[in-house]
Amino acid sequence: MTPNVSRFDRWIRTSFVEINTELETLYFAQENKAAVTFTGAALKQQLLAEGCAFIIDLLNEGNTDEGFEEGFNLLGNVGLYLAACRRHEIDEANQNIMKEASSLALQLGASLGVTPRFATSHLTTHNTAFNGRYKTFTSLEDEAIFIDYNTRGIFSYKRAADALLRIMPLGVSHPVAPDLFKAAKDALYDVIAYNKTLFKKLDTDRFFYNVRPYYKPHRVGASVYRGANAGDFAGINVIDLLLGLCRAENASYSQMLVDKFLYMMPQDQLLLRDCMRQKSMMNSFLEALPANSKSPWFQENLKAFLDVCDAHGEAAAQHHDQLVGKYISQPAVNLPEENHSNLTASGPPLPVLLAVLEKLRDQRMAAPRNDIETRYKDIQLLKAAITE
Ligand code: HEM
Repeated sequence: MTPNVSRFDRWIRTSFVEINTELETLYFAQENKAAVTFTGAALKQQLLAEGCAFIIDLLNEGNTDEGFEEGFNLLGNVGLYLAACRRHEIDEANQNIMKEASSLALQLGASLGVTPRFATSHLTTHNTAFNGRYKTFTSLEDEAIFIDYNTRGIFSYKRAADALLRIMPLGVSHPVAPDLFKAAKDALYDVIAYNKTLFKKLDTDRFFYNVRPYYKPHRVGASVYRGANAGDFAGINVIDLLLGLCRAENASYSQMLVDKFLYMMPQDQLLLRDCMRQKSMMNSFLEALPANSKSPWFQENLKAFLDVCDAHGEAAAQHHDQLVGKYISQPAVNLPEENHSNLTASGPPLPVLLAVLEKLRDQRMAAPRNDIETRYKDIQLLKAAITE
């Protein structure tokens, strides 16, 4: 880490957090907690000016080629600064200052092969802690709860994906496949358990008014980049595709993958591309169905496979019906109309986003739907083949 990079990192972990927390305290004390524009002018100026000074030093220093990890960490820091400026609504009026941060973010993003803004991995799976504290926007307890449980959920999904990937070279009839299906199922039940705790611990108003706004879309250079969300890692889609509940040939599903690639770490991008080319396990079981349905391997392995599908569907339903419902849809009902723009991380109006998330839930649950493709009939066929 060069001295300039190190000074900026220290600022992001200290003063940046203090200023954001003070601003959040001011917003939260207001009758309309979503009214941000005219509150805390002096603190906002301090944030802008202090961050900008570090960024100018970094731009003057130029490329230092400190390796991927250092570059990615620096991109995260510039990204947190840009996202905070958007959250406090000081970015568009200060484009001359934001220009410097955009230049640095664009140079780093393009050279690393990722989007030029902070991504979920900067706050979760690639967020180094010193003395027990990792990077956050604020020191509010609810932000830490949100990040802790996002990180745990993501790692659990990754464990499930990893177990399924190990089945691919073995084939679904292999005697060891049930062990791996069980490992995937257990990891998905970990996701469900963590989501349950998150649902219990996270305060709705604190999340909605003081945490979520940092995850909005914002401008970097000439383009607006969508916000970060906990789904920006390959594992969840690896599970969708390998199980066969979602198909890469389906246009709306693969459109979502195309939109998400640069929000993932480069190694996740490679992994997901590879999975998009593989035959799904559901298709392997369907092909084996008429000739092998009475074989002991078929009965045992299929049962274990269907258990994983059930767990994946249950976790998806929980995300949509509980987390999105409690923390986004319900509080949005009480939000004044003028504060509705940028309610979502990806940008579309809330009803449009909810319909997309509902579609994903139903594909993962293999629910019966006439308007979109799901594997309902195939799952029913496979379930009917279980004899005991
Ligand atoms: C996406 C809400 C926690 C996994 C999303 C989106 C919303 C949302 C609104 C769509 C983003 C957008 O395009 O605007 C929430 C809320 C949470 C929460 C309110 C908790 C308070 C989690 C956790 C996980 C997770 C803990 C587990 C890793 C995902 C995934 C996506 C996503 C995978 C991408 C869409 C998909 O593939 O289903 N979330 N989320 N979320 N979230 Fe969450």
